[in-house]
Amino acid sequence: MTAPEVLRVEDLESGYGEMQVLWGVNLRVPERSIVVVLGPNGAGKTTTLRSIMGIVRPWKGKIVFKGQDVTMLKPHEKVARGLSLVPEGRHLFPELTVEENLLLGAYTRLGKENPSDTLELVYNLFPRLKERRQQKAGTMSGGEQQMLAIGRALMSKPSLLMLDEPSQGLAPKIVRDIMETLERLRDEWRLTILLVEQNIAQSLKIADYAYILEQGRIVLEGPAEEVAKREDLVRAYLGI
Ligand SMILES: Nc1ncnc2c1ncn2[C@@H]1O[C@H](COP(=O)(O)OP(=O)(O)OP(=O)(O)O)[C@@H](O)[C@H]1O
Ligand SMILES: [Mg+2]
Repeated sequence: MTAPEVLRVEDLESGYGEMQVLWGVNLRVPERSIVVVLGPNGAGKTTTLRSIMGIVRPWKGKIVFKGQDVTMLKPHEKVARGLSLVPEGRHLFPELTVEENLLLGAYTRLGKENPSDTLELVYNLFPRLKERRQQKAGTMSGGEQQMLAIGRALMSKPSLLMLDEPSQGLAPKIVRDIMETLERLRDEWRLTILLVEQNIAQSLKIADYAYILEQGRIVLEGPAEEVAKREDLVRAYLGI
């Protein structure tokens, strides 16, 4: 039996001004799975996540979340329904403390219900953030800032967590920690995860299913372990 899907993207086209970036992207994210989208720089990975989130307006196609068409909803409406994005580059408030950054993530109706309980869950997941709760976000290490960005996204109590290259710029050990955290979020928090990455080996290890995006089109897809067996092909697509 296949798990019900939390997110389905159908024939998504989108871009900026006159420039088309996505040329009919199709994705399926089953409940409580980790789906990874791999692709080279400029392939349209961030544009895909932004279009799903409504930050970039879809031109064509459909975004179905938990059975409902959410294609044209505004980002805050999507967050309220349970979508959450950890953006590329993290976008924290560097002058605010760790805890202030986390609480800013709890602005939705659902997030405002017992934010201190959610905060405890996040601190449980990332004990380091608890130790540093009064430290300014901008003075944290890269890995700690990525944990904070994930923690903040969790404060809205999402059912679908989307992450845009969380491993970017981090040491291999920290990348492994982040990937392990994503597995815990799937297995213990029962979250559904859509991950965008360029780190093939680490992300295929934790993912259930993988898509390769190139020049705004899906060029290869399959169960992560099958895709991992074709690492040479994937590397060629990613140009590495
Ligand atoms: N705000 C924008 N305005 C105009 N063009 C943009 C904008 N953002 C991205 N693009 C262009 O859209 C294309 C896809 O960019 P996108 O950021 O989605 O790629 P990506 O796969 O996330 O790449 P990377 O791995 O470098 O993050 C690129 O050609 C990029 O220059
Ligand atoms: Mg990107």
